[in-house]
Amino acid sequence: MKALVLAGGSGTRMRPITHSSAKQLVPVAGKPVLFHVLEAIAEAGLTDVGVIVGDTAQEIAAAVGDGSRFGLHLTYIHQERPLGLAHAVSVARDFLAEDDFVMYLGDNFLLGGITKFVEDFRNYGNRDAQILLSRVADPTAFGVAELDETGHVIGLEEKPLRPKSDLALAGIYLFTPAVHEAVESIRPSARGELEITDAIQWLIDQGRRVHSSVISGFWKDTGNVADMLEANRSVLETVEAVQEGYVDEASTVIGRVRIQAGAKVVASRVVGPAFIGPGTEIIGSSVGPYISVSEHCRIEDSEISSSIVLRGCVLTGVRRIEESLIGRDVEVEAFPRPSAVHRLVLGDNSRVQIPS
Ligand code: G1P
Repeated sequence: MKALVLAGGSGTRMRPITHSSAKQLVPVAGKPVLFHVLEAIAEAGLTDVGVIVGDTAQEIAAAVGDGSRFGLHLTYIHQERPLGLAHAVSVARDFLAEDDFVMYLGDNFLLGGITKFVEDFRNYGNRDAQILLSRVADPTAFGVAELDETGHVIGLEEKPLRPKSDLALAGIYLFTPAVHEAVESIRPSARGELEITDAIQWLIDQGRRVHSSVISGFWKDTGNVADMLEANRSVLETVEAVQEGYVDEASTVIGRVRIQAGAKVVASRVVGPAFIGPGTEIIGSSVGPYISVSEHCRIEDSEISSSIVLRGCVLTGVRRIEESLIGRDVEVEAFPRPSAVHRLVLGDNSRVQIPS
């Protein structure tokens, strides 16, 4: 069995972060979402992985390499344009050959991994495809499944205006080679994409066996900032307390906090769950809970919680930052009082909320 990971897409809903980085590389609890995906695949015992890449191919390849550090063998497959998930399957046709495969969207996060689903698919051996479903508050943003009273999938719709259930298709699918005929048989949707949802519907229409499992654990499509912060919170809940860095006596560390090697906490209060990346300094500050600070940041005389801070940021003298995603090498500093002005140097598509 192979794996196909989709790491293309332009990440428009995550701008400006995605102007300079692929959305799959935003760290959740200190680790890019894509790394969580690759680890889950390795854990399920799969090694042969195709990675679909688009405009951000170089960054993805620079971050992931040949996959050997995950125990995987990666083949990069270029998708010229993001023409849909089913299109990605057709681009990977030669790589997939006649093997079964798990398709995993590189911006999807599933707590607890995929081992159980891969094992089920292998053991039952009588399924043409298997989908994972998760109950969501707003099904209109997803592919939506309709089940009959026995739990069989009877219909799927991509981003319906009037959803027939609250069961969203999670971006993790298991396929036999039967999917290739389906992919060749469908036409582009209204948004101009070849939808995997339509390919699976085609299998159902042909009387093929499409099994579904409803996930009870945490799943998120991390396509926007709020979802990314929620995934961060959820993964941080599973972080073990580890103190490899330095914490001085004037500091307090409460709860599950991971302080990586080379990090320094001085005269500060860190409330877990929290992740403090290697080489990061927290000085005279209050950080957490639910905070992930990447490597080589400095947070001084500041307060921040429920946020993700990417590498190389400097925060000085700023109070109460919450629910924020701060890109790489950003500086946020207090402006000397008295002043009613805000001085901003923001990238394209930035979003800032300031008291008015
Ligand atoms: C895609 C699928 C959709 C699925 C979602 C899961 O949506 O088309 O059916 O529910 O992934 O993340 P997209 O991210 O392309 O909007």
